[in-house]
Amino acid sequence: MDDEISGIHDVKLYTYKELRVATEDFSPANKIGEGGFGSVYKGRLKDGKIAAIKVLSPESRQGVKEFLTEIEVISRIEHENLVELYGCCVEGNNRILVYNYLENNSLAQTLLGGSQRYSNIQFSWRTRYNICVGVARGLAFLHEEVRPHIVHRDIKASNILLGKDLSPKIADFGLAKLIPSNMTHVSTRVAGTIGYLAPEYAIRGQLTRKADIYSFGVLLVEIVSGRCNTNTRLPIGEKYLLERTWDLYERRELVGLIDTALDGEFDVEEACRFLKVGLLCTQDSPKLRPSMSTVVKMLTGEVEVDNWEITKPGLITDFMDLKVKGPPKTTKPQAMDVTSSYNLPSSSDQLDTTTLYSESSVGATFTSTYNQSIETREFSP
Ligand SMILES: Nc1ncnc2c1ncn2[C@@H]1O[C@H](COP(=O)(O)OP(=O)(O)OP(=O)(O)O)[C@@H](O)[C@H]1O
Ligand SMILES: [Mg+2]
Repeated sequence: MDDEISGIHDVKLYTYKELRVATEDFSPANKIGEGGFGSVYKGRLKDGKIAAIKVLSPESRQGVKEFLTEIEVISRIEHENLVELYGCCVEGNNRILVYNYLENNSLAQTLLGGSQRYSNIQFSWRTRYNICVGVARGLAFLHEEVRPHIVHRDIKASNILLGKDLSPKIADFGLAKLIPSNMTHVSTRVAGTIGYLAPEYAIRGQLTRKADIYSFGVLLVEIVSGRCNTNTRLPIGEKYLLERTWDLYERRELVGLIDTALDGEFDVEEACRFLKVGLLCTQDSPKLRPSMSTVVKMLTGEVEVDNWEITKPGLITDFMDLKVKGPPKTTKPQAMDVTSSYNLPSSSDQLDTTTLYSESSVGATFTSTYNQSIETREFSP
């Protein structure tokens, strides 16, 4: 291993023992969450710093050198809206990442947590404004300033962490690249976050920065409305947040989507502008979506949103329809075949994201058919 890590600089390497001590032997009491990549523990490092310690699932067979090269790239990146990586541990089959610990959990567990909300944080309009602009700046940095450009691939509410002052930090950037495509848990991850997937990425595996911009658009609408992108308990026509947003936009009633928890305490013009930016980012054609640096300027009012034509968003329901009604089977399996052979309801209204979560076989096959194409398109513009 000494051989393998020679030539790697600037990455702090933790011993397994130090991290075991920090987390009290990875005690369940210190576990703060579990995601597609493995479990996350809170721990106190030798130097007294509190850290979030992410233990990657043991299936990761990636070589030490490859792993560390990636880590080196990620750990050199510094931005106020990105989670800081302290270092990592590679011993035997263990692959562990050590991050700066953030006090206020994620947007998924706070703003969008519903009845299981982790906290009673009140998200004022000013706070939401700062979160949206901060995330946009972090993403613009990854997309346009870092070389080679980094496509995050998994922008969503649970990957936006909040610091003490509720300043947003994007987590897990670059992480998808560290995980071999044959890992089964990646499939649940993709299936589970389907509401954020750009149609061209989900169907054709075309991964560009525009796919992140789509996910950001979904997130933006979630933050302004205080609602998750999918809520199957709502009546037809309201289940899918983007569909609802487009509908209200066409009727010039966007204001009706703004979170009622704000109690009217918001700048109407600004909030509607944010929703329009969300629509611009989620347009069906990737070419029409603005770059992240333009998005930042739109949010802050430096670029006039009303000069841009907004076309219909690429909708998850259209995507499901396409899969259900997809072309006849060819010899080479496509994502479409997998779903149609699984007897999805022919009406997209009945389709429920929990189906995708619980039926792991769907997720697994579904992913393996398009993950390969994703892998060949790293960092494409
Ligand atoms: N640096 C951190 N500080 C505080 N909490 C964190 C940190 N990193 C992760 N967490 C918490 O740990 C939990 C699990 O995170 P993890 O990233 O593993 O899963 P996820 O974001 O739900 O899904 P995904 O695997 O797609 O990222 C999340 O609820 C998150 O709030
Ligand atoms: Mg995460």
